[in-house]
Amino acid sequence: MGLLDGKKGLVLNIANDRSIAWAIADNCLKHGATCGYGFLPMEKMERRVRKSLEEMGQTDPWVQPCDVGSDESIAAFFQAAKEKYGTIDFLVHSLAFANKDYLAIGKFLSTPRDVFKQACDISAYSLIALARGAAPLMPNGGSIIAMTYLGSEKAVPGYNVMGVAKAALESTSRYLALELGEKKIRVNTISAGPVRTLSAMAVGGIDEMFAHTERKAPLKRNIEADEVGKTAVYLLSDLSSGVTGENLYVDSGFNIVGL
Ligand SMILES: NC(=O)c1ccc[n+]([C@@H]2O[C@H](COP(=O)([O-])OP(=O)(O)OC[C@H]3O[C@@H](n4cnc5c(N)ncnc54)[C@H](O)[C@@H]3O)[C@@H](O)[C@H]2O)c1
Repeated sequence: MGLLDGKKGLVLNIANDRSIAWAIADNCLKHGATCGYGFLPMEKMERRVRKSLEEMGQTDPWVQPCDVGSDESIAAFFQAAKEKYGTIDFLVHSLAFANKDYLAIGKFLSTPRDVFKQACDISAYSLIALARGAAPLMPNGGSIIAMTYLGSEKAVPGYNVMGVAKAALESTSRYLALELGEKKIRVNTISAGPVRTLSAMAVGGIDEMFAHTERKAPLKRNIEADEVGKTAVYLLSDLSSGVTGENLYVDSGFNIVGL
């Protein structure tokens, strides 16, 4: 018996088979869920996403463009999801963007206004916009999760403006949890340790993050994206029915260590 048997959800956005969204979808499918997928509309992306979903055993997946920087794109995505699924039970927000020129060690002070705005828009405001699209499709309640990183709470060299955006994302998740609770919609974040994905490779100092986690985390190793996927299943399933507004760490315990 799967923990997500009979549940339908939307996963945004897979870029390739290393994406955290991919690992989450893979675990959701293993637990009996039906998933629809978003992708950032850019050249070759749809083909790449479909190929990575084939590796998961999804032969004819429902895949739709969704650029969270565009209200029209978000509206079209949820209209298509409504036509396809009618209602959904969960939504996965696993996407972020910041100009990598400013994700280098020592570059935070020079962050321009437009880079700051874009990072917060794509990485944090998008959770409000997607939750607003998803809520009407969740008449019986549901579960929304978003991915974050410790750089929201602590100053991590090179994470810079993305840390600011993640702080906004975590706070956004709590306010959404407060407002959507009466609709039985839960909203939580997962704070993942570093994982080798396309986005992670844009962060200056990423190698030090991996090395430091291995040296200092209680588990003395880095995490696998699959471990984030398993925790996501818990938060998306009824096992976590009493949990909302929380931030759950999947980081080998790194966040508890002071030295
Ligand atoms: N990899 C890590 O070390 C790590 C750690 C903690 C949290 N996270 C978070 O996990 C989430 C997923 O990232 P990932 O590491 O799997 O990298 P990834 O590059 O595989 O995924 C990032 C996704 O964001 C999408 N995206 C970017 N701009 C977008 C836009 N305007 N509209 C829609 N989609 C857009 C990309 O297309 C891509 O699919 C992000 O929120 C990231 O910050 C990653």
